[in-house]
Amino acid sequence: MPKGIKNIIAIASGKGGVGKSTTAVNLAVALARSGVKVGLLDADIYGPSIPKMMGLAGRQPDVKDRTIFPLENYGVKTISIGFMIEEEQAMIWRGPMVSGAVMQLLNDVAWGELDYLVVDLPPGTGDIHLTMVQQVPVTAAVVVTTPQDIALLDCRKGTAMFDKVNVPTLGIVENMSSFTCPHCGEATAIFSENGADKLAELHKVEVLAKLPLDLTIREMSDAGTPITAAKPDSEQAKAYLALADAVIEGVALLDKRPINIPDGFLPRKG
Ligand SMILES: Nc1ncnc2c1ncn2[C@@H]1O[C@H](COP(=O)(O)OP(=O)(O)OP(=O)(O)O)[C@@H](O)[C@H]1O
Ligand SMILES: [Mg+2]
Repeated sequence: MPKGIKNIIAIASGKGGVGKSTTAVNLAVALARSGVKVGLLDADIYGPSIPKMMGLAGRQPDVKDRTIFPLENYGVKTISIGFMIEEEQAMIWRGPMVSGAVMQLLNDVAWGELDYLVVDLPPGTGDIHLTMVQQVPVTAAVVVTTPQDIALLDCRKGTAMFDKVNVPTLGIVENMSSFTCPHCGEATAIFSENGADKLAELHKVEVLAKLPLDLTIREMSDAGTPITAAKPDSEQAKAYLALADAVIEGVALLDKRPINIPDGFLPRKG
């Protein structure tokens, strides 16, 4: 892994479409706004959505001597396979190629000094996840879920995968938590509510943020102007900024955790 990267934060979920990429983008921009050095790696080789969400669609990174130079927007150095292939191009990758592509996006990119590299993972627990947890020193994972039971069940698979390989889960982001009617102001829990609390209790991890199902978040995301950059004073952006603080705090606490000694390990005498 490139020497200048201090922490790698993987954004995962079990189920698709729960808002991983939206969360990854806004978290990265929020971290940058907090004054730390941030990169964003789109590890969704099959369906990269980061170029569009970061307002970088159609751009191509410079490549010199096999080194790829990340594109930058909103203070975030960004790389995605989407910069190198046509959007419509069918991505028929087999396992080893996928793993190679992800490792290239990490190792062959001139990231420079980064406090945090946010990695947007594809849904599920496939080849890319295996590569990430087996070959990349991931500092911690953030698991995104909607409050619904079904999303939570899948999300449990995500946390279990990280648990197995001793990657700590910093916490859960409950996305699309509630919807406030713009006409009457009443809040409705479209995808149920407080599901993340149950999951957090089960896995003894924190709920880092509860983000609303919100039209502006979706519109800004589609327009390539993440709400955290375009409307930093909005309530929604403040929720992402609070998430960024929680991630920074969570990582700082990890540094102080006791060393995890595996079962059956016997210290050498003398
Ligand atoms: N809090 C939110 N409020 C409104 N819309 C949202 C919110 N979060 C995500 N969305 C929208 O939901 C859709 C799916 O979000 P996104 O692409 O971030 O999910 P994903 O988990 O990355 O999906 P995939 O599994 O396909 O990678 C997008 O259109 C996005 O704009
Ligand atoms: Mg995505």
